[in-house]
Amino acid sequence: MFESTPTAAPDAIFGLSEAFRADPRADKINLGIGVYRDELGHTPVLAAVKEAEARLLAKQTSKSYLAIEGTEAYGRAVQALLLGDSSEVITGDRVLTAHTPGGTGALRVAGDLLRAQSPETTIWLPEPTWVNHHQVFGAVGLAIGNYPYFDHQSNRIDFEAMLTAVEAMPPGDVVLTHGCCHNPTGADLTPDQWRLLAATLKERRLLPLVDIAYQGFASGLEADVEGLRALCHEGPETVICSSFSKNFALYNERVGALTIVTSTTDAVAAVTSQVKQCIRSTYSNPPAHGGAIVTTILEDDELRREWQEELARMKQRVQAMRRLFVAGLDDRQVSMSSEGNDFLVHQHGMFSFSGLKERHVAQLRDQHAIYVVGSGRVNFAAMTADNMPRICDAIAAVI
Ligand SMILES: Cc1ncc(COP(=O)(O)O)c(C=O)c1O
Repeated sequence: MFESTPTAAPDAIFGLSEAFRADPRADKINLGIGVYRDELGHTPVLAAVKEAEARLLAKQTSKSYLAIEGTEAYGRAVQALLLGDSSEVITGDRVLTAHTPGGTGALRVAGDLLRAQSPETTIWLPEPTWVNHHQVFGAVGLAIGNYPYFDHQSNRIDFEAMLTAVEAMPPGDVVLTHGCCHNPTGADLTPDQWRLLAATLKERRLLPLVDIAYQGFASGLEADVEGLRALCHEGPETVICSSFSKNFALYNERVGALTIVTSTTDAVAAVTSQVKQCIRSTYSNPPAHGGAIVTTILEDDELRREWQEELARMKQRVQAMRRLFVAGLDDRQVSMSSEGNDFLVHQHGMFSFSGLKERHVAQLRDQHAIYVVGSGRVNFAAMTADNMPRICDAIAAVI
């Protein structure tokens, strides 16, 4: 079976981390990896998570299996966070949620479900997008299309090109959007653009699939879901793949959710049964611990407040690093675009396309022990007040 198995290409982002770990240089810096780091360079366990874990440990009596779709309490908590307590789809019983292992698990189950429901469907991904989107939807056998999203010249979304492409898609296809903090560009749609997109998708009979992995990292917990709520409001159907890896810093607990808004209450039971079938043949049922942490925090006023404050501090630190990076480049008279560096301050979340080209990325790695993804995507959360001068000096040297 395996004698002549070819070696698969390393994952673009995890592969970079492997190379980083193997680098013996003491002053190396990894701007590639997709996790939050604090000002000391650590990815901490949140205090609210620690407290929730202590409570869970004290009262846990069994490690029996969860239901295929996870607990009801988790599903309710996810829906309230994404859609709002008083959402018309919740009060109208038009929504279901399954607890999945991370946002990736949600994407995979969604892909399996879409392929089983409609094998001829194409899923349209923004160009560029998170590289794993191609791998996940390719693995389930869905046809993949790309729609224009980001204009590398202006470092802005090309919304006109995006909408023109959407208008030309055949009815029944699926359009993936990033709920907020678009990865890798950091460029998000405005509320008006979301509304226009929602109306166009409905008119063209296209199904929106929203991948939201950074709720709370752009403008705030509520503001960051305005776009997906506009899609759900317009309807009739929406698929949402969400992750708690980043906003609860629960990366290795693998906790996420697949939420589907259906057009009628009657459809919920049938769609749930199909989702359960996809899950049963993939990982059978979800890992309990991460979901229990999230549920404990979201159901407790005090823990929830503490978590929201910790999340706000993570967001503010990333924004501060964006400003410090731009100031550092400006001081060295380095310009990452023809219009300067300010675009990096206005974009959202941990990532942006820095404007670094592949040759710069290679020089940064070889000559300065600074690791950046080949596309030039940098993670601002990996920057600190301490390492910033070295990062900016190195970029000035290679540009
Ligand atoms: C856009 C996007 N979607 C989904 C995910 C998946 O997150 P998880 O680690 O929860 O699987 C990520 C993580 O990097 C992401 O950036």
